[in-house]
Amino acid sequence: EEGIYKYYSEGEWKKSSSGKSVAIVNPTTRKTHYKVQACTQEEVNKVMDTAKIAQKAWAKTPLWKRAELLHKAAAILKEHKAPIAECLVKEIAKPAKDAVTEVVRSGDLISYCAEEGVRLLGQGTLLTSDSFPGNERSKYCLVSKIPLGVILAIPPFNYPVNLAVSKIAPALIAGNSLVLKPPTQGAVAALHMVHCFHLAGFPKGLISCITGKGSEIGDFLTMHPGVNCISFTGGDTGVAISKKAGMVPLQMELGGKDACIVLEDADLDLVASNIIKGGFSYSGQRCTAVKVVLVMESVADTLVEKVNAKVAKLKVGPPEDDCDITPVVSESSANFIEGLVTDAKQKGATFCQEYKREGNLIWPLLLDNVRPDMRIAWEEPFGPVLPVVRINSVEEGIHHCNASNFGLQGCIFTRDINKAMLISDAMETGTVQINSAPARGPDHFPFQGLRDSGIGSQGVTNSINMMTKIKSTVINLP
Ligand code: G3H
Repeated sequence: EEGIYKYYSEGEWKKSSSGKSVAIVNPTTRKTHYKVQACTQEEVNKVMDTAKIAQKAWAKTPLWKRAELLHKAAAILKEHKAPIAECLVKEIAKPAKDAVTEVVRSGDLISYCAEEGVRLLGQGTLLTSDSFPGNERSKYCLVSKIPLGVILAIPPFNYPVNLAVSKIAPALIAGNSLVLKPPTQGAVAALHMVHCFHLAGFPKGLISCITGKGSEIGDFLTMHPGVNCISFTGGDTGVAISKKAGMVPLQMELGGKDACIVLEDADLDLVASNIIKGGFSYSGQRCTAVKVVLVMESVADTLVEKVNAKVAKLKVGPPEDDCDITPVVSESSANFIEGLVTDAKQKGATFCQEYKREGNLIWPLLLDNVRPDMRIAWEEPFGPVLPVVRINSVEEGIHHCNASNFGLQGCIFTRDINKAMLISDAMETGTVQINSAPARGPDHFPFQGLRDSGIGSQGVTNSINMMTKIKSTVINLP
């Protein structure tokens, strides 16, 4: 059928034999904008077989050649930034400028990965036996890093290009092959990104991109015996995957409830602008968004006033107009957010703005005087709604942060670096930002979550390491 984007297998663009498609609904118009192939399990099998074969040859390709191809892909991706950004605008309602930024950032990530990879993987270690008691200097152990095999990459809708590339580039530089299952919203942007790798001239079958319904191919992919590692970013699905997956390394990043702790001595203008950036950029649909403000009572009124003044200035509307607040990704997401708002209303939260929704577009909303019995104090809205919990001690703030099921990032605002360090040590999160909103980037920084926020660590260097295995060769002297 015409108008259905093809999937990518064996270095070719193909139609699925299922004859079926998956619709991608534009969050703004709520109408089907694109269609992608609904691939079958047989097609997954084919992709896995070719990925296995292609990987063997790729692992033997010199490291500098692998890097060269990645640099080429990065340059092509940047050349294609406009059409890819256009897909992001239509598929996930990402504001136009941010959509371009996502593509450029992805190109930079690929190049950085190529550079980091040639250095990191171009060296190993040598151990000698005589340091361990009872041994002579008769054994030399050569340690190097070898690829895992076939990496399955599953990125989320909020960064379909960047969080795909952050898995693809480390996998490839390390000598692995890669099977990508993009999110439905964002699949066309991802296919276009894969096309850039195709144009760069990677060997056939080394990268594949399979689209389809999670219900038909989701478990089949994640439980497939041909998969040697799963790198997943997303929501609760990750927990289910980790329970079902076989004995393969998992890299998981599953959301957060990032706390922003504000002390009495904080620069409140700085805090307010970071709350706006951290809480409302891409309408709060970031795992690293500020998701709860924990502010000392004595400065709470002033802070809330400053934040409200900035909320009033946020431009609300379609992503094409580069608005700050754009429609959330789907109707079910908007309904979920509304559920949290209704619960907070019933339990007596202070609404700093009127709650307003048109279709999937939800106006930015700050909820003050949120208490721990409200769902919004703990759950992740993934939307432009931000709760403020007033605290009377720093300990109360730390307690709230650590009581969360999530432990991705957190931030502290204070002018006292000693206090900040003590609080950072006490916060049980993968990263703590001092005097800035949480963020994953720069993309070579380690990125990890505790508890339900994930498994393993990302960031360029950690991802390359994670997608390799240690191999030792021991030379035994007579
Ligand atoms: O949504 C999860 C992303 O990893 C967050 O990335 O901090 O660059 O928005 P970001």
